[in-house]
Amino acid sequence: MKGIILAGGQGTRLHPITISYSKQLLPVYDKPLIYYPLSTLINLKIKEILIIVNPDQLNNFKKLLGNGSQFGLKFSYATQKKANGIAEALIIGKNFIKNNSVALILGDNIFYGQDLYKNVSVINNNNGSIIFLYKLNNPSQYGVANIKKNKVTSIVEKPKKPKSNYVVTGLYIYDKNVSNLVKKLKPSKRGELEITDLNNLYIKNNNLNYIKLKDSSVWFDAGTPDSLLSASQYIQAIQNRNNILISSPEEVSLKNKIITKVKLNKILKSKSQNDYYKFLKDSEN
Ligand code: DAU
Repeated sequence: MKGIILAGGQGTRLHPITISYSKQLLPVYDKPLIYYPLSTLINLKIKEILIIVNPDQLNNFKKLLGNGSQFGLKFSYATQKKANGIAEALIIGKNFIKNNSVALILGDNIFYGQDLYKNVSVINNNNGSIIFLYKLNNPSQYGVANIKKNKVTSIVEKPKKPKSNYVVTGLYIYDKNVSNLVKKLKPSKRGELEITDLNNLYIKNNNLNYIKLKDSSVWFDAGTPDSLLSASQYIQAIQNRNNILISSPEEVSLKNKIITKVKLNKILKSKSQNDYYKFLKDSEN
C-alpha cells in the first residue's frame, strides 16, 4: 500500500499565522505538525509516500523532509494550485498510486493511541475502503457517519443536525479502484471535490468499511488556533509525564525496523544537541 499526505490548503482559519507559511509546518509542541500524520503512515507500514503541498511551499517541505531516506522511506512531491477539495489528492496522485491501494491522510490530523495499529493487517489486506470514526460531543464541524445495524449508511459533511456522534477522521484507506471512482465526482456547492462524496460512492457500492477508534485514543484536527494549542499542550503533557516522544518519524521508523540504530546514529551526528535529538540518541532499537 502507498501513502499520500495532503498538506495544501490556505489554512485560512489560522490566518495571519499561515499567510506566508504552511499550517502543516507549524509546531505542535516540539515537532512540525506534518510529523504526526507521517508517523501514522509509518506505523501502518507504508514506505512510499507522496506529499502534496502548495506550490509556493514546496521548498520548505523539501528542506524539512527531503527524499525520505533519513526515515528509511521514499518521498515524492506534487503540488496542488488551489484548494479544489480533498478528493483531488487522488487525482493528483493517480500516477503515483498506479494499481495499488492507498492510504490518504490529511496533513493536519494527529492520531495517538494503539488501536489504529492493531488493525495494520486488516488495513493492508482490505478490499474496498476503510474510514476511521471517532466519537465527539460536537460533531457538526466534520463529516458525520449515519450508522444503522453496524453499517455506515451515509456520511453527511458538516450537518446542522448530526445523526450520530461519530465523525469521519482524516485517514482514508482505498483499494486500487479509487482512481476510477474519483473520476465520477463533481464539485460540490462550495466548489470542491469532496472526500465525503467519494466515501458515499463506496457506500453505494457496498464497499465501505469502518473502524471505530476507542475513546481512549486521541484524535486532533489541528486546523484552528485553539485545536493547535490543545494538541501542543496534550503532547507536551504526555511526553514529559511518561518520558516518551510521540510521533517522531525517526523513532517510529526505528521501532518498525525501517531504519537501524546504526543508521539513525549516523544521521544524528549532524543534528543539534537539543532534547528532541538527544532523546532519539538515547532510544533503544
Ligand atoms: O479532519 C477531518 C475532516 O476533514 C472530515 O471530518 C471532513 O469530512 C473533511 O471534509 C475534512 O473537513 P475540514 O473542513 O477539516 O477540511 P479542510 O477544508 O479544513 O481540509 C482539511 C485539510 O486538508 C487541511 O489541512 C487542508 C488540506 N486541504 C484541503 C482541501 C480542501 C488541501 O490540502 N487541499 C484541499 O483542496
